Amino acid sequence: MEEEVGPAGPGKGTEPVIRLEGVSKVYSLPFGDVIALDAVSLAVMPGEFIAIMGPSGSGKSTLLNLIGSLDVPTAGRLFIDGRDTSVLSDDELTELRRDRIGFIFQQFNLIPLLNAFENVEYPLILKTRQSIKKSKKAQELLLRLGLTEAMLAHKPKELSGGQQQRVAIARALINDPAILLCDEPTGNLDTKTGKVIMDLLKEVNMSGKTIIMVTHDPDVAMYASRTITIVDGRVV
Ligand SMILES: Nc1ncnc2c1ncn2[C@@H]1O[C@H](COP(=O)(O)OP(=O)(O)O)[C@@H](O)[C@H]1O
Ligand SMILES: [Mg+2]
Repeated sequence: MEEEVGPAGPGKGTEPVIRLEGVSKVYSLPFGDVIALDAVSLAVMPGEFIAIMGPSGSGKSTLLNLIGSLDVPTAGRLFIDGRDTSVLSDDELTELRRDRIGFIFQQFNLIPLLNAFENVEYPLILKTRQSIKKSKKAQELLLRLGLTEAMLAHKPKELSGGQQQRVAIARALINDPAILLCDEPTGNLDTKTGKVIMDLLKEVNMSGKTIIMVTHDPDVAMYASRTITIVDGRVV
């Protein structure tokens, strides 16, 4: 199953873009250890669209956070672009995360004080270390994702859930990452809006980006080319 790949698409290669070898995550708590992930091995090929499913508390978010290097494994090894992340320095990891990975969350996680345009421009500024207000990149991306010119100046709270998630997708894409990690991207949206967002994500995948998405909704998982189910921290 591990070697199974999605439909052929642009950017598809023979080397996994992500590889986990016996990755575990154990949280040590006062009342004992919680094994959130238990020796998970997994290979993701470039251009794949993977859905991670499983009951609440099964370790889905933990797995996604490890893949995104937001957290580190307690055992096992994680390779991104063939690089062993355990030997990278904090700075190298930050760079890898910034340049190669985009995140999309259930709660959108936009910065409340920044407007839509500024939220999308922000990671670009972090990367280029200069204000690029004149750059049209953020604006073009937002318009392409279906926002109107007028919405660019709106703060997140002045936008609907679906509009906020479009802004979050634009923010995730602004530095042109190869990998998009989505944790319940439609979890806060109604069914109709969720479908619109999933169609957008499918388009992003067809443009060549690898997507790994956590969901507990079978209709949402249908958009993926492969589904991985996790129960009690193990792939089943
Ligand atoms: N920071 C943490 N500290 C302690 N336990 C945690 C932490 N994060 C997650 N867990 C535990 O790890 C398990 C998996 O959590 P999680 O990955 O969030 O599951 P899911 O996303 O599938 O609902 C759960 O038992 C959860 O309580
Ligand atoms: Mg979760």
